Amino acid sequence: MKRFVLCITGASGSIYGYRTLQVLSEGAEVDVVLSSAGHIVLREELGKTGEELKKEFPSVRFYGEEELTAPVASGSTLIRYDGVVVIPCSMSTLASVANGVNNNLIHRVCEVALKERVKLIMVVREMPYSRTHIENMLRVTEAGAVVAPASPGFYHRPKSVEEVVDFVVGKVLDQLGFEHELYKRWKGGGR
Ligand SMILES: Cc1cc2nc3c(=O)[nH]c(=O)nc-3n(C[C@H](O)[C@H](O)[C@H](O)COP(=O)(O)O)c2cc1C
Repeated sequence: MKRFVLCITGASGSIYGYRTLQVLSEGAEVDVVLSSAGHIVLREELGKTGEELKKEFPSVRFYGEEELTAPVASGSTLIRYDGVVVIPCSMSTLASVANGVNNNLIHRVCEVALKERVKLIMVVREMPYSRTHIENMLRVTEAGAVVAPASPGFYHRPKSVEEVVDFVVGKVLDQLGFEHELYKRWKGGGR
């Protein structure tokens, strides 16, 4: 069974993290790290608390951002994982990772993923971008991460918010190498 670390930060788009957790937890081992701001936005946007999330996904290991002694903070553990995804990823977390600053468990997991060459996907969300945001995206890309912005396509003609979300989550799962059928793949024009 594949293993992933799923980090949820305080950017808008908790629903992307939640949906990714739903799908991954059905077929993989998952560790979730929720930042303090991630807790706030989760409650604001989905009306869920971290405790409720834990009850909903009993097979998943949950960590708070302060738990720097978690196994996944160590290279010898994380190297056995198939990927780390930060979804949604705030500009603050992006900046910390881009500059090697480790103030919490999410930053540390990302840094360890980069140094151990474990796949790292950062699903950034902000609009518009400042020059600093763009520079930080370049820095993490050059360090080996994949910046996969929460930027849905519409060529599959979504009929609901859920289908828009599934498009983004499907693209992220593609990057993680996790099989899914969340969106219909483009088979050429003239349908
Ligand atoms: C409702 C709400 C929505 C937010 N949306 C964003 C966002 O889309 N992108 C972003 O970079 N920060 C956003 N923020 C600000 C972050 O939560 C804030 O920068 C926080 O310090 C990020 O911390 P973290 O990266 O440790 O989770 C939002 C905050 C709130 C309360």
